[in-house]
Amino acid sequence: MEIKKQLLEDIKKVCLCRSIKAGTIMAAIKEGSLTFEALRRKLGVGTGNCKAKRCRSKIEDRIKSYKDSHPTTPTAPQ
Ligand code: FES
Repeated sequence: MEIKKQLLEDIKKVCLCRSIKAGTIMAAIKEGSLTFEALRRKLGVGTGNCKAKRCRSKIEDRIKSYKDSHPTTPTAPQ
């Protein structure tokens, strides 16, 4: 059941204008694109007709959720 839920989530279109799916966005986040601007450069999210009005908050929520579940260890200043 959990796998089916994940598959459905992965194919959900988050950036409707550019038809970019949640799975594509999450893969890019996991590869290190941790800001909306980084995802815009890498995938083109937010570059459609609505100029990110419909997708920006949904994408930023996914980035925040990923960061919250993958906290980084603070590094000491060099
Ligand atoms: S939904 Fe992403 S640019 Fe319009």
